[in-house]
Amino acid sequence: MTVTAVIGSQWGDEGKGKAVDFLAERADYVARFNGGNNAGHTVINEFGTFKIHLVPSGIFSQNTTGLIGGGVVIDPAVLIEEIEMLNKSGVGVDGRLWVSPRSHLIMPYHKILDGLYEEAKGAGATGTTRRGIGPVFADKVSYNGIRWTDFASDMFEQRLQVQLELKNKIISALGGEALKYESVRAEYRGYYLKLKPYIKELFSLVQDGLKAGKNFLLEQAMGTFLDTDWGTYPFVTASTTIPSAASAGLGIPPKYITNVVGVTKAYTTRVGAGPLPTEIHDYDSEVYKKFGEVAATTGRVRRVGWLDLEIVRTAVQLSGVTELCLTKLDVLSGLDELQVCIGYRLNGVGVRYADVDAYGLDKVETVYQTVPGWGEDIGKARSFDELPVNAQSYVRMIEEAAGVPVKWVGVGPEREATIRR
Ligand code: GDP
Ligand code: IMO
Ligand code: MG
Repeated sequence: MTVTAVIGSQWGDEGKGKAVDFLAERADYVARFNGGNNAGHTVINEFGTFKIHLVPSGIFSQNTTGLIGGGVVIDPAVLIEEIEMLNKSGVGVDGRLWVSPRSHLIMPYHKILDGLYEEAKGAGATGTTRRGIGPVFADKVSYNGIRWTDFASDMFEQRLQVQLELKNKIISALGGEALKYESVRAEYRGYYLKLKPYIKELFSLVQDGLKAGKNFLLEQAMGTFLDTDWGTYPFVTASTTIPSAASAGLGIPPKYITNVVGVTKAYTTRVGAGPLPTEIHDYDSEVYKKFGEVAATTGRVRRVGWLDLEIVRTAVQLSGVTELCLTKLDVLSGLDELQVCIGYRLNGVGVRYADVDAYGLDKVETVYQTVPGWGEDIGKARSFDELPVNAQSYVRMIEEAAGVPVKWVGVGPEREATIRR
């Protein structure tokens, strides 16, 4: 049995979706345990191209069962749309996708409040996805949340009434339009009826699976440095993103998590506000254009920067990463030389990521090592030996800094564009 957590070692969008898709070939269960539909995971395989927000990215492997743990927050309309889309695409999720009744629901007021809070913060805004993530997790930990269990125990109407009374006062005070009880009630009752066949307590299923030695793949959403505690607060997301979150978010005791795959992009990207020490600001440069990406969830342009080994090293330590999956190495082809950040200095003194807060991280001086690039297109390489020597050295430099092996190297967005070592 293996329980493998797949986590992003940077600020999200490292290519977790692709990694989970190919790792799921050997998984009995693939599970989401944190976040919500702020996640956008890209999967490209024989079924087509998908941007998935809630269903685990390993669902394409036909012998795998997908689990959405209680640690995930759910926008029911998004989940219904995703299930329908996957069924239409021939993936077939019925009978092998289960949603925890403990998961909290994103309500219309969460999305409204997310937007109103962001606007009130002005220049200090986080740059959220505006999916209601911060407000729904705030309600969860302040005992104001609404869960699927509330429908089964007939508490939904009562809880909704109280919440609408409270939330409408805040919304009106901030200049928003109050929500109407009856329309929200009817809308969410409708969602519940549609999703009821997928809602099932996961406790026995997970415990029996562990006992029977099944393989679990745990798919993190977001990245290490968006973690509420260890990320660049307040420029973070509202859930714990490090592997320990899988314990609470799915009900897997920590001792079972034996493997942690750290998905690492060969450069760095970030969406939204907050420090990005290696950010490239020359928007006309060849490298900026090469690294450029569009966010899978919001369509925003991702900020880009050089690879930051202090970030990767910190993520490996924090999450107990046992092996790395390096993605997008192919994107670096064609650059004469590459910059790699090997550490930070502040006021002339070496500092580590954890020594400074988000505002301090914005001020650190990045120490770069210049390494030679390679001209060859590596998209067709399927073994490490086929990579140009300088690309091999780049991979080895990461391994050395991280102290763990790079077991997979991504050379294209498709499932098969992967070197396994
Ligand atoms: P996630 O949120 O971590 O799943 O990552 P996203 O899907 O948001 O962003 C990663 C992007 O990189 C997507 O467009 C993927 O299709 C793409 N991608 C993943 N791995 C590779 C790779 O090795 N090479 C290339 N060129 N693209 C990749
Ligand atoms: P995946 O799983 C990248 C960022 C937002 C914003 C901050 C808070 O695809 O890697 P939120 O809506 O969560 O309150 O926004 O977190 N963010 C992500 N950035 N990838 C993600 O998910 C993200 N999910 C949230 O851009 O800066
Ligand atoms: Mg993403």
